[in-house]
Amino acid sequence: MLLVKENEGLWRYKYTCPMLGIKFPSSTYIIKIGQKLLVVSPGRWDEQLSSELSELGEVGWLFTPNAFHHVFYHQWQRAYPEAEHWGLKATQKRAKTLQFSHLYHGERTPFGDSVELCLLEGAPSVSEVAIFIPQSKSLIFTDFIFNVNPPQPWFTRLMLQMVGVYNRVGTSKIFRSSVVDKKALQKSVIEILKLDFDRVYPNHGQPITKDAQQTLEQSLGWLFNG
Ligand SMILES: [Fe+2]
Repeated sequence: MLLVKENEGLWRYKYTCPMLGIKFPSSTYIIKIGQKLLVVSPGRWDEQLSSELSELGEVGWLFTPNAFHHVFYHQWQRAYPEAEHWGLKATQKRAKTLQFSHLYHGERTPFGDSVELCLLEGAPSVSEVAIFIPQSKSLIFTDFIFNVNPPQPWFTRLMLQMVGVYNRVGTSKIFRSSVVDKKALQKSVIEILKLDFDRVYPNHGQPITKDAQQTLEQSLGWLFNG
């Protein structure tokens, strides 16, 4: 099985995304809303995954929740042309050949109360959107929070150590350097911390299933105390 059930209405597909010699342990999250599926950060697509997805429901929406997670998006657009293709202005800027049906910028979404999208202001080149699922008290981050544990290939380990996110919950130096308005980011994160979540699901690395709220807060010293 490629899809692993993580929580009520939430599945994860783990894959490796090679980039500049780094093998990023990555995740695609699938959220079931009614009979439809919202695919967050569509990763490497394959036939078996497609067949497992069709048993779960109908792929209704594809969503790339920041400017960088669009590498495999075209594969999914080809496989699911009837789905709504959601992106962000920042994604469109970087991926000029991708055509999105919707560019999210804070408006109402078709997900009703099932999913809340929380834009992280203050880092427009990343434009990350955190995803909160109230029913399962789950919070999904893409590049804002990493939790990559050993073992990893040596070069991956080295590079993640260099950007400060190996074997710890935290925000990379790359993300931090993209922040142009720290106060705006603080404001967004304060709102996120008010949400009633008990699990954090980073795209890169392992879910945080124990003391998630406290662990997340502790990892954010650089934002609030730095
Ligand atoms: Fe990433």
